[in-house]
Amino acid sequence: MSLPVLTAVTDAEWESELVAALDSGDHGVTIVRRCVDVADLLAAASTGTARAVVLSADLRRLDREVLSRLQAARVGVVGLVEPGDVAAEHRLRQLGVRHVLPSDAGAAVVAESLVRAGGVADPDEPPDKPPEPELSGPGRVVAVWGPTGAPGRTTVAVAVADEAARLGVPTLLIDADVYGGVVAQVLGILDESPGVAAAARADNQGELDVAALARLARAVNPRFRVLTGLSRADRWPELRPDPVRGVLERARALVALTVVDCGFCVEEDEELSFDTAVPRRNGATLTVLEEADIVVAVGAADPVGIQRLVRALSDLADRLPGIQPRVVVNKLRAGVVPGDPAGEVAGALRRFAAVQRIDTLPYDRAALDRALAGGLTLGEAVPSSPLRQALTRLAAELAGVPAEAGPRRRS
Ligand SMILES: Nc1ncnc2c1ncn2[C@@H]1O[C@H](COP(=O)(O)OP(=O)(O)OP(=O)(O)O)[C@@H](O)[C@H]1O
Ligand SMILES: [Mg+2]
Repeated sequence: MSLPVLTAVTDAEWESELVAALDSGDHGVTIVRRCVDVADLLAAASTGTARAVVLSADLRRLDREVLSRLQAARVGVVGLVEPGDVAAEHRLRQLGVRHVLPSDAGAAVVAESLVRAGGVADPDEPPDKPPEPELSGPGRVVAVWGPTGAPGRTTVAVAVADEAARLGVPTLLIDADVYGGVVAQVLGILDESPGVAAAARADNQGELDVAALARLARAVNPRFRVLTGLSRADRWPELRPDPVRGVLERARALVALTVVDCGFCVEEDEELSFDTAVPRRNGATLTVLEEADIVVAVGAADPVGIQRLVRALSDLADRLPGIQPRVVVNKLRAGVVPGDPAGEVAGALRRFAAVQRIDTLPYDRAALDRALAGGLTLGEAVPSSPLRQALTRLAAELAGVPAEAGPRRRS
């Protein structure tokens, strides 16, 4: 049976030759459409009539998003590069294209790769190149998440990253809040452009390697880097799931610990969920939660905060059942809940959300005000405060190091 294929080749002359050669010979492929651009290609792929496409590396608007839509439509990809164009080949491979050929490879070779990419090859046959090495490094990813109502996600994420770095762990803090990131302000960084958007864009173009990520992440100190967030909430479409996943992969290779300040929401947009190609605001948050090694769920220690936390934990269990979040109850204080606040909060979470273990962080407005006013971390501004000390212990556990290890000063 002949494999139905698409073409999206930019060089018109060469495209006609290739099409003629593929169609005339007995190469086991049939061209069902010659696409003129990416939009045409995606439309043709979505009809389900083709199993593979041969496309040029320099096809305009070819990025990770397009390739994941082709993958979702079960269309295998063969990329063509100018002979000797190493940069183009590298970019295609970075984007996940496994079958890359020089454009002068000849119709028979192209057809053979199309058959492999289309998934009808002998399963025992090796691919034309060995698969790319696993990109994930050994670094750990911690997602800091929680319900609406500003329970203290950013406060916890910034402090955990800073304290882990002070404990000697090379750390990257990523502000991935799609409802407007404020990490740059909290750290007193003058930020012209969001690092997280630049990193996601570079990944989408197949241009994000570990060195590029290191360039885009601002160094607060040699062990503490920051990818600043989208200060304008309406820029959320710049953080799509696939590029966010790519950024996390590179982050694992760059540092031992990546801490991500997430948005609060995990709901799916019901009306849009029938169309997998439509961007969803919470897609980036869900991706971070899925990819993370540890999810920290932050809630506020008052009746409203606990009710929201219980609700959020149940939503999380519905959407991503495999995740066992580590629950941190912040702003713990007497007065707002009766009796012993820690015991009351722990009891409520055990009864209503089956949470067996919580960490608590004390309410300390004065300490945070001092830090915020100077654009400093708690470790710099108020090192002896109980809130800071509780956060140091939490950071050590999340980073997997002893709380007393390593240098404790900003270097
Ligand atoms: N332990 C604490 N004691 C006192 N105030 C706190 C504590 N933790 C956080 N806050 C304050 O609560 C407010 C909200 O904190 P933060 O910005 O960290 O929350 P968030 O969950 O990231 O909110 P958002 O939804 O805006 O992203 C800030 O003013 C912060 O200083
Ligand atoms: Mg926040």
